[in-house]
Amino acid sequence: MMEWTDRHCRYFLRLLSRRTFLYTEMVTAEAVLYGDCDRVLSFHPAEHPIGLQLGGSDPNRLAEAARIGANFGYDEINLNVGCPSDRVQSGRFGACLMAEPELVAEGVAAIRASVPVPVTVKCRIGIDDQDAEASLDRFVTTVGEAGCRTFIVHARKAWLKGLSPEENRHLPPLDYGRVHRLKAGRPELEIVLNGGIESLAAAEAQLPHVDGVMLGRAAYADPYLLAEIDRTLFGSDETPPSRLEVLDLFMPYVETELAKCTRLNQMTRHILGLFHGQPRARAFRRHLAEHAHLDGAGIAVLDTARRIAAGDKHFSVAAE
Ligand SMILES: Cc1cc2nc3c(=O)[nH]c(=O)nc-3n(C[C@H](O)[C@H](O)[C@H](O)COP(=O)(O)O)c2cc1C
Repeated sequence: MMEWTDRHCRYFLRLLSRRTFLYTEMVTAEAVLYGDCDRVLSFHPAEHPIGLQLGGSDPNRLAEAARIGANFGYDEINLNVGCPSDRVQSGRFGACLMAEPELVAEGVAAIRASVPVPVTVKCRIGIDDQDAEASLDRFVTTVGEAGCRTFIVHARKAWLKGLSPEENRHLPPLDYGRVHRLKAGRPELEIVLNGGIESLAAAEAQLPHVDGVMLGRAAYADPYLLAEIDRTLFGSDETPPSRLEVLDLFMPYVETELAKCTRLNQMTRHILGLFHGQPRARAFRRHLAEHAHLDGAGIAVLDTARRIAAGDKHFSVAAE
């Protein structure tokens, strides 16, 4: 999720679930081709399996950006056809491409020709006044003919005229039935449902109808949601780590990154929700919010936050 997730976030989430497939935020083809691609694309080997999500519409640029991404070791290239931001519309990519399935198909074909890994598409059920039945079928058929076998479908339209990107993430109504019908009509395709899934139970309830579920905001706000996924959905027999164990596993990573001059709050901002719904969650968050951004903030800040979360009286008095 742009401006929310990054490699630190993914490293952290990977401590909670080994099997969940993780994606980068959308990276434009141009950022890969003309930006600092090391900064944009590098990731820790522990993040696997991981997909690179690209944004763009020029098939040649997409293909070249995907080739560079695949060389970095990404396990999948995903093309974004769902982002509603104005900036993205003016560059002719994201959700506005739902109206141009042939161009998306060209992009998919070009990417497929340049990388050995699977190429997938994330889209909406439609945009603006499109008929979400016929136009989504046409979109999936056209892009499917170019070799895309997996579609991650955010189960609401994007209203490009009149709504802000933020409004487009919750105002157009969710329509899970439309995604279920897509799967029923195209059983040979892998259809992953996204949008509004806030619990493991809600994800499980979708699985009779679709091949997978993608979580966005809930996984960020309440990351411990991921901890039960390996056991419940992937049949792992490993006991998930506790929240405190997750913090212990994160500490060495934080220390290594601090030594490379990464600022503490660039990492700790992603863990603020770890104790969501637990006693002392607020004090844990507050301690990090007040201290992790300060110049020179080091591992001691995180250590204190851990003690607060663990209920160490010596620290909780100071924190409440
Ligand atoms: C701040 C923010 C940034 C997002 N950035 C992306 C992005 O880069 N790529 C993408 O496919 N979706 C992006 N999304 C959309 C989410 O991936 C997801 O489709 C949407 O939030 C609905 O799922 P959810 O209800 O599980 O969050 C973003 C959402 C938010 C809130």
